[in-house]
Amino acid sequence: MDWHVTFRVFRYKQDGQPPGWQEFVLEVRPTDYVVDALERIWAEHDRSFIFRHACHHAACGACGVRINGHEHLACNTRIDTQVSDGGVVTVEPLQNLPVLSDLVVNPALFYERMELIPFIGLQPADPIIDERTGETGLASVPPHQFANCIECALCFSTCPARAVDSDFAGPAALAAMSQMLGASRRDGDPRSPLEQAGGRNALRWRIRAASESVFSCLLCQACEVCCPRDVHITEGVHSLRRFLLKEGW
Ligand code: FES
Repeated sequence: MDWHVTFRVFRYKQDGQPPGWQEFVLEVRPTDYVVDALERIWAEHDRSFIFRHACHHAACGACGVRINGHEHLACNTRIDTQVSDGGVVTVEPLQNLPVLSDLVVNPALFYERMELIPFIGLQPADPIIDERTGETGLASVPPHQFANCIECALCFSTCPARAVDSDFAGPAALAAMSQMLGASRRDGDPRSPLEQAGGRNALRWRIRAASESVFSCLLCQACEVCCPRDVHITEGVHSLRRFLLKEGW
C-alpha cells in the first residue's frame, strides 16, 4: 500500500532571495529510499531542485544530507525508518559547510582537512613500532576500520567540536590519521608509509599540525552514530592521543 508523505526540503539559490523551505506531497512506497523521493521531486515537480547523488548504494558518499534533523545518506535511508503514512520528512543540507544551492554544500573545507593526511591508497598492515620501547603506537586498533571511510562528511556535519572551532580537523581526518599510523605500505610500493610521507620527521610534522584537533575532540561519539560505514572514529582519536602523549608531543 502506498503512503502519502510530505517532503519538506530546504531551498536556497545564490540569487539574493532568502533561504526557505518548500513542501512536496508524494505518493511513495514505505520501502522507497529518501533519494528516490528527491529524484521524483526533481523529475515531477521542480527541475531547479539541486541535490547530489551518484552510486545509490552507500559507496560514493555523495548524497549526505540531514533527514529529520540527523545526518544520513539519502540513498540508504528508507522512508519507513523516518516517518509513517501521512507524516513529514524534513531534508536539509549538511551543517558546518557552506551551502551552494538547495541540498548541495561545498565540501572544500572537509577535503582540505583530509589532505593533512597522506591517507588515500594506504593499505593496513603492521603498526608502527616505537623505536625506543619497541611497543606499537596503535596496538589495539584494527586499522581496516578506518579504511572503510567513504568521505561522505556526515561526521563533519554532526561534529559539535567543528561547530565551535573552524580550525578543528574533523572526525574523518582524525580517523584517517589514525589509519596512517597503523598502515605500513601501499599496494605495489615497496617503501614504508614513513618513507612515502617523507620520513618520520615529515609524519611528525603532520601530526603536530593536527595535534590540537586530536585533543579538542569531545569524544561525544556523534560521528560514530551517523557514520554509514561503522568507522570507529573515537577509538582512533584515543589511539592518536596515546601515541602523541607517549611521544611527548
Ligand atoms: S549516492 Fe553514493 S553514497 Fe549515496
